[in-house]
Amino acid sequence: MMRLVTCICVLAVGASCIPDESTKPSAKSVHKTDVLTVFLTGNELGALRPCGCFGGQLGGFDRRSAVFNSVPRQGRLIVDTGRFVEGDSEQDLIKFDIIIQAFSRLDYDLVNLAEKDIEIVENLGLLDSIGSVFNIISSHRPADVNVPAKFTKQLLLKDKTVAVTVAAFDAKSGQIERISELFTPRADLQTVDILILNRCDAGIIGSIAESGIVDCLVCPAESDEAMVISAPDERPLVVSAGRYGKYVGKLQIRAGEAGDKLNLSFLPVPVTEDLLPDKSLVELYKEYQRLVKEANLLEKHPRFVLPNGLRYTGLESCKPCHEYEYEKWSSGPHAHAYATLDGVGSAFDPECVVCHVVGMKYESGFVSAEKSGYLKNVGCESCHGPGSEHIRTLGKAKTTGPKSHCADCHTPETSGDYGGNEELYFEKIIHWREPNAPGDVK
Ligand code: HEC
Ligand code: HEC
Ligand code: HEC
Ligand code: HEC
Repeated sequence: MMRLVTCICVLAVGASCIPDESTKPSAKSVHKTDVLTVFLTGNELGALRPCGCFGGQLGGFDRRSAVFNSVPRQGRLIVDTGRFVEGDSEQDLIKFDIIIQAFSRLDYDLVNLAEKDIEIVENLGLLDSIGSVFNIISSHRPADVNVPAKFTKQLLLKDKTVAVTVAAFDAKSGQIERISELFTPRADLQTVDILILNRCDAGIIGSIAESGIVDCLVCPAESDEAMVISAPDERPLVVSAGRYGKYVGKLQIRAGEAGDKLNLSFLPVPVTEDLLPDKSLVELYKEYQRLVKEANLLEKHPRFVLPNGLRYTGLESCKPCHEYEYEKWSSGPHAHAYATLDGVGSAFDPECVVCHVVGMKYESGFVSAEKSGYLKNVGCESCHGPGSEHIRTLGKAKTTGPKSHCADCHTPETSGDYGGNEELYFEKIIHWREPNAPGDVK
């Protein structure tokens, strides 16, 4: 653990993200900042990083650090609001463990365990080990688990101490009146009280606003983008951290004009491709790829039975009768789809392989490069369907489904340019002789 922390310090300095004045010797040797930042992330839902299928994708734990390190450590608080993975499949559990390590490497101050997270933590018996790496809070407390509901960190804003408290509240079953118990009024310090809710509606927000206790409410995400839900200068400021790690929410705290009340503002920061990835997190992703391979997830992937006893045969079996189409396909983009995955180390990750090979969701479809190498890449049968019957009848029986359509794989998440450019894409894969009107597989 110690070694990691040192490593993060070095990186922070290396990225020259600490403003000049902090390097000058200061009389008090305390860093003075006129803005404090609370970084809010959450709802990763298993998105460790974007697939890289096309340019311009947002997100990635490895690029988050660049956002965090744009603010000196003394002036920031890094908080995750929870909901790390989508379900509890074997792959989700591998991701869960990786995400916990990512939080540690990214130097998170606080992690809120949502209901789903705490279930997993309990099942895996991870509570003690997590609690020793960063602070945790939760509004869900199963009988024998003791997790606090709030956390406070004191930060220096100019020369005044500000106590930032982050608490979690179960708005699904808790009584709103009890929220006041989470925040202690302080006469001696300025305070910022942030509340993470697992449910938000106008009624809940309204009654919390009425109580006047909370400065900022963090609601569950309804979109990928982090955003301000209330008016930008309303109290409480209602925000959400977005989804899939595409944005980092940046809550900024400044001294007010009169010097009494603090000003809050919220900025969604997109985690863009041009941010420098953190080496330690790039390594962590490689570790994830290794664990996925080791767990043999490809072979365990659930597979449907094909209709009418059909089977995938592989494109070498099409070649004798469709030499022309075969040659054309070979020089097209789909012929190297598997090599592309191999090149980025994801050739054993079912979440990637499914679109880069033939028939992975079906029996007799792709299992692994060793067992079914003839089904690597987006082959004939991805689009034309399993060929066994067509071949048995020497082409008399037409090819039948399941056939994948372009948009099944070219989704907005994996092929951002496809929508609106269907014809351009279509022209690039023409491999047949007859003039064919643009459209999908017959
Ligand atoms: C829903 C289907 C789908 C999934 C899932 C998918 N891909 Fe892709 N991938 C595509 C498509 C479609 C393209 C081509 C996109 C384009 O050029 O518009 C592509 C292209 C790529 C490329 C080539 C990008 C380039 O610059 O040429 C890489 C690398 C890649 N994918 C990696 C991955 C990885 C890694 C994963 C898993 C994390 C993954 N893909 C999951 C459909 C998918
Ligand atoms: C089974 C999933 C799948 C289906 C179905 C599919 N594609 Fe693709 N497509 C991919 C993948 C994966 C890539 C990326 C290959 C690579 O770069 O290695 C790709 C790449 C492409 C590219 C190259 C994009 C570029 O910018 O270089 C074009 C064009 C394309 N597909 C068109 C189509 C069309 C048109 C259809 C429907 C007739 C279609 N695809 C159906 C998975 C699919
Ligand atoms: C990305 C999807 C895709 C892949 C991969 C693909 N095809 Fe096609 N194929 C199409 C589409 C789309 C058409 C044109 C529309 C149609 O006729 O269905 C087509 C047309 C054809 C035709 C002409 C159909 C006709 O009615 O005249 C043949 C034959 C054919 N493909 C064979 C193959 C063979 C063999 C392969 C593998 C070497 C292959 N295709 C790979 C999508 C694909
Ligand atoms: C033994 C020879 C033979 C083999 C092997 C063969 N085909 Fe065909 N295929 C034909 C004949 C013959 C036709 C009809 C040609 C025509 O009508 O112009 C045909 C037509 C097609 C068509 C257009 C009609 C349709 O069924 O949609 C597609 C697509 C096609 N083949 C795909 C494939 C694929 C994919 C494979 C490999 C899995 C394959 N063929 C293997 C002989 C063959």
